[in-house]
Amino acid sequence: MNFSDKAWILLAILCFSSLICSIKAVVSYDHKALIINGQRRILLSGSIHYPRSTPEMWPDLIKKSKDGGLDVIQTYVFWNGHEPSPGKYYFGDRYDLVKFIKLVQKAGLYVSLRIGPYVCAEWNFGGIPVWLKYVPGMVFRTDNEPFKIAMQKFTKKIVDMIKEEKLFETQGGPIILSQIENEYGPMEWEIGSAGKAYTKWTAAMALGLSTGVPWVMCKQDDAPYPIINTCNGFYCEGFKPNSDKQPKMWTENWTGWFTEFGGALPNRPVEDIAFSVARFIQNGGSFMNYYMYHGGTNFDRTAGVFVATSYDYDAPLDEYGLPREPKYSHLKELHKVIKLCEPTLVSVDPTITSLGDKQEAHVFKSKTSCAAFLSNYDPSYAARVMFRGFPYDLPPWSVSILPDCKTEFYNTAKIRAPTILMKMVPTSTRFSWESYNEAVPSSNDAGTFAKDGLLEQISMTRDKTDYFWYLTDITISSNERFLKTGDDPLLTICSAGHALHVFVNGQLAGTSYGGLSSLKLTFSQKIKLHVGVNKLALLSTAVGLPNAGVHYETWNTGVLGPATLNGVNSGTWDMSKWKWSYKIGTKGEAMSLHTMTGSSSVEWIEESFVAKKQPLTWYKSSFDTPVGNEPLALDMNTMGKGHVWVNGHNIGRHWPAYTARGNCGRCNYGGIYNEKKCLSKCGQSSQRLYHVPRSWLKPFGNLLVIFEEWGGDPSGISLVKRTAK
Ligand code: GAL
Repeated sequence: MNFSDKAWILLAILCFSSLICSIKAVVSYDHKALIINGQRRILLSGSIHYPRSTPEMWPDLIKKSKDGGLDVIQTYVFWNGHEPSPGKYYFGDRYDLVKFIKLVQKAGLYVSLRIGPYVCAEWNFGGIPVWLKYVPGMVFRTDNEPFKIAMQKFTKKIVDMIKEEKLFETQGGPIILSQIENEYGPMEWEIGSAGKAYTKWTAAMALGLSTGVPWVMCKQDDAPYPIINTCNGFYCEGFKPNSDKQPKMWTENWTGWFTEFGGALPNRPVEDIAFSVARFIQNGGSFMNYYMYHGGTNFDRTAGVFVATSYDYDAPLDEYGLPREPKYSHLKELHKVIKLCEPTLVSVDPTITSLGDKQEAHVFKSKTSCAAFLSNYDPSYAARVMFRGFPYDLPPWSVSILPDCKTEFYNTAKIRAPTILMKMVPTSTRFSWESYNEAVPSSNDAGTFAKDGLLEQISMTRDKTDYFWYLTDITISSNERFLKTGDDPLLTICSAGHALHVFVNGQLAGTSYGGLSSLKLTFSQKIKLHVGVNKLALLSTAVGLPNAGVHYETWNTGVLGPATLNGVNSGTWDMSKWKWSYKIGTKGEAMSLHTMTGSSSVEWIEESFVAKKQPLTWYKSSFDTPVGNEPLALDMNTMGKGHVWVNGHNIGRHWPAYTARGNCGRCNYGGIYNEKKCLSKCGQSSQRLYHVPRSWLKPFGNLLVIFEEWGGDPSGISLVKRTAK
């Protein structure tokens, strides 16, 4: 008798002594599958990250996931959203984790809870609170006491809360699985023995919390038993867990990819996704999760470094929560046929026979049933194969599924679902803009402080704002030669990231920015200076914080030098040791201009006098909500870079001015999929549409506020709605 049989008998005994047995279940596993209520299961799962949509959207997203044939919803837990300052917890609104889990339960689905608490996820700082970095002696994600203490405290906090709400499956709740850490294997490899010790500690710590359901660690070859090592990737058919007592599980099957500012739009053809799933299942895989099933939006300042505000991910449910067709329906059909096969798949191991050079049959045959998967791995040629005396046509790079070993119910490359193209159509909403220009700060403004040398940005802002000002004076005497020759001096400013606006005597002289592949930037431009004191003001902006990489918490942000002025009489001035004044955040932020009360504290310029193409400009307009229920977005095409708020809610960073670099080749999915090949919209704005959740709107008089740091024309902004073409 294996562990699961024992557990099941124990449950049966408990059932006799209790009336609630029907809703409580034991979750265990064997080499084939997770076992719930004594039954091995093939589980189809999809990621929905609760803070990437609004609570009002959750029921519909969950319903569509269920209709799409999912059994499980997977989410990370977002530590920095839940503990914004040490010991001060927040579980409200988009961070209402318990509410989200209960909604999934109500819909009759299971939950896979990836507690992390490091999550990666293109989420600011990988989900770890920024304040934690400043705890003395702190080193993230290694054998470091301060980190382990904090990680354990938060993990325990979450597990205790879940237990109190009775949300683990063993308590009658929907959670069948938990994850600790995230893809730590590759990190451990780089870090060495301290990494190994941390893995051991992490596993023991998690097991010590006694959740009653299995733990997984993804991409962790040495996950200590009974923790299950799982696979992440575009394909996982060849993956093997590190113990032959454990099932083959796939925690991230990437349905597309995320968009970065400066990047083109990634997409993954559904034929390739379906093929990857079918191959995984035919090779004995029993748990598969789509990352993402609904990607959603990186509202506010939650995006990781250079990650766009949209986290659409080309997922089966688009950013707005609408089915993406034919992706959604083609996968739904796949799920149906897998479910038809489920009893057979879990009861026997497959036998594999060759049907040709690159063709195979995987046959699951029990005493009473038979299911077959016929596959063609050739990326370019269609194959006609003979199976049990009958011919089957297999398109290139495809799997046919025969739930009775005879009838082809489904082929991964034969799409029957119709394509539905969506478009954004203008609404009748018209904005009437007012503007407020904030002045470049000066060193004697309230809140400025002075220091010799250049300061790292995040150590000053603690990431409470994207913005940090560096101010200094450049004094030019009348005998400077360049004044006569007209050969202006060259200002060179090097920054560790991420974007920089350079103001000379109150005027924007230029802007430079990095990108995801290189956060650093250099501003190098000749500037006009006059005799006497010239005011240099550098507005350094952070575009999210890194979320991945070895000790990413040590990466710097802001102007750290070199900073030079070249072409003066003495040759070059090294400004990096000069006295600089600093200011955290913008004036508008300090006055809360994005709120109703805050916005009444300044004089706004109206209608025809509204500023255009000017940096450091705040815009506001009131608008009524268009009738209907189509999702809404702002088309920010004519704007530069900054933030947008609707009724005080930050809908995220806008940066339509950053156009997509890279090559958009033909997306050739036949063969190994590579997200770098399947790109569209090269040369166009990385993101011009910004989701405005309807639940943040009231019927009339909504307040829209924009901070435009660079320069834009608000007259080109429109409110659009998403509808089928
Ligand atoms: C994985 C990671 C996820 C996410 C994904 C890319 O490696 O585990 O959290 O970052 O990459 O979207």
